[in-house]
Amino acid sequence: MIIADNGPGISEDIKNKLFDPFFTTKPVGQGPGLGLSISYQIVVQKHSGVLRCESEVGKGTEFWIEIPLHQVGKSVKSNGFQLPTDLQ
Ligand SMILES: Nc1ncnc2c1ncn2[C@@H]1O[C@H](COP(=O)(O)OP(=O)(O)O)[C@@H](O)[C@H]1O
Ligand SMILES: [Mg+2]
Repeated sequence: MIIADNGPGISEDIKNKLFDPFFTTKPVGQGPGLGLSISYQIVVQKHSGVLRCESEVGKGTEFWIEIPLHQVGKSVKSNGFQLPTDLQ
């Protein structure tokens, strides 16, 4: 899945910190800086997926989200129900 905008874009130095918890370029009190770090935790750490940012300053930004349909070598638990290994 790709989400794209035609906003200001993101410079290289900011791009390196994008997924850090509490990183924000918004004024004090306006940005908790948690949106992308929580997204990273969910997509990459929880679902073993891919979260990538492509951006060009002045043109816009794209976020790539890939989530595997099947987890390899990892049990997926939800609501206490666990799928048999061959269905995971
Ligand atoms: N689509 C975007 N275009 C430009 N900059 C972005 C975009 N998404 C995120 N950023 C940058 O990444 C920072 C961190 O984003 P986020 O984790 O959502 O926290 P917050 O929105 O609270 O600042 C933002 O402050 C901004 O500098
Ligand atoms: Mg945000």
